[in-house]
Amino acid sequence: DEESPQPSSSSSAPLDSHYIGRREDIVRAGRVTRQLNGCRDVLVLHHQGQIYALDMRCYHAGGGLQHGDIEEFNGRLCIVCPWHKYKITLAEGEGMYQAVDNPTVRPLKTQWRSKGVKQRVHQVTELSGDVYVTLNTSPEDIESDRYQTDKYRTKPNTS
Ligand code: FES
Repeated sequence: DEESPQPSSSSSAPLDSHYIGRREDIVRAGRVTRQLNGCRDVLVLHHQGQIYALDMRCYHAGGGLQHGDIEEFNGRLCIVCPWHKYKITLAEGEGMYQAVDNPTVRPLKTQWRSKGVKQRVHQVTELSGDVYVTLNTSPEDIESDRYQTDKYRTKPNTS
């Protein structure tokens, strides 16, 4: 059952962490999605040697980030939501937007700015080639939380 992968060694995995899979398998797949704790859909992805975990559905309107391209904006790696092209930093979950420096100066010059954290990102731990994710349970509201309700959640695997 690929929904219940087993770590090769769980001796020192962080408390409350969820085993995702072997690093080599995640690198090969590029992206995997998992429902953790039976209630949170998380995208785990590999990019340029680094593994990231974040809420699977975009904070804007719930687009599936597992289908997004990864691009750099102003030196920050972002996933670009396939629905309306919002850019979200992989490491922090910040929404990025292009701000106009001075609207009276032509041609208009824009700069990438952050809207702050909009997408909940989760902690990734690697141990002996095993990858674990610890859910970020910080109490503040993060906009992507609203797409983790029953309405949007994939049905738990009951078989
Ligand atoms: Fe992601 Fe709109 S749903 S940009």
